[in-house]
Amino acid sequence: MTTADSRAPRYARVLGTGSYLPNQRVTNADLAARLARDGIETSDEWIVERTGIRARHFAEPDQPSSELALHASRAALEAAGVAPDEIDLIIVATSTPDMVFPSTACLLQQKLGIAGCAAFDVQAVCSGFVYALTVADAMIKSGAASKALVVGAEVFSRILDFKDRTTCVLFGDGAGAVVLGASDTPGLLASQLHADGRHVDILCTPGTVSGGQVLGHPLLKMDGQAVFKLAVGVLEKVARAVLDKAGRSEADIDWLIPHQANIRIMQGTAKKLKLPLDKLIVTVDQHGNTSAASIPLALDAAVRSGKIRAGDTVMLEGVGGGFTWGAVLLDL
Ligand code: ACO
Repeated sequence: MTTADSRAPRYARVLGTGSYLPNQRVTNADLAARLARDGIETSDEWIVERTGIRARHFAEPDQPSSELALHASRAALEAAGVAPDEIDLIIVATSTPDMVFPSTACLLQQKLGIAGCAAFDVQAVCSGFVYALTVADAMIKSGAASKALVVGAEVFSRILDFKDRTTCVLFGDGAGAVVLGASDTPGLLASQLHADGRHVDILCTPGTVSGGQVLGHPLLKMDGQAVFKLAVGVLEKVARAVLDKAGRSEADIDWLIPHQANIRIMQGTAKKLKLPLDKLIVTVDQHGNTSAASIPLALDAAVRSGKIRAGDTVMLEGVGGGFTWGAVLLDL
């Protein structure tokens, strides 16, 4: 990490994006068959109608978040034309780290074969990537870093209760990454982060490790309707606040990438922002909810398909456990 100086560029820009999905693709029909073996009923029809999800990917048991992060990072570095040893900051957003410590960011750093730069994790559940991006942006603006690797990586399949059909059908595994670089032209235009710890209980994995044992309930629990109601309200509000900060309006948004949790929440947010639905990037149908990985996965998919192009203005919005939420507006 370098120290701030007056010559440091003031802005952060996205130089490249990457993503990775583990090989095992699990359709709703596959999942329904798995649950049926335990006498639990679900169907493709129910899942698609309530969530928009058709399939998700699950990592192999020996594939930790850092490995998914490594594949996504390599793709982002290649797209950016940046060598791993040029990176001077690594931030990984994850709620499913490889181990209690060290951080997944340090494990990723080791896998990338680089050493010395700052590396740490951010834990804000599904808002993790917008939190991580905001921190990296601030560090670049201050001169504390000049090329940052920002990753969202998750293996939520490890913390799902496959006896609870109200949650296990919703989530998947994956990773997405961006390389940010210092620039004298604005890329990340504005951001805003929030949390409200009064809502800890509506979405949590309330287990911990103590005395060599797992204490509490180490599987995901969610009050879906409470999350739904909170999410719709905060996503509209934070998007408007970020537009105000950047001096832009809804009409300036070329693409909206909300956290990919539920198509109904995503479409509701787009409508409240008066955006036509064809400006909404949707990958939840194929990825499910990949928590902190969902936004960079969707961003990379849209960039690689040619939908999002250089110069486009993109609104990223996260919302998740904590309760946390936030948004970042950027010019690509
Ligand atoms: N298959 C079939 N039936 C089901 C399933 C399933 N997988 N899950 C629930 N049901 C049943 C329920 O038991 C209930 O049956 P009942 O009427 O006989 O009691 C019925 O379907 C309706 O259940 P609801 O919970 O009312 O369904 P709802 O329409 O609220 O949809 C959902 C549930 C999809 C979870 C929705 O509330 C939601 O998407 N919430 C938001 C989740 C979210 O956005 N999370 C993001 C943050 S994630 C993070 O931060 C980690």
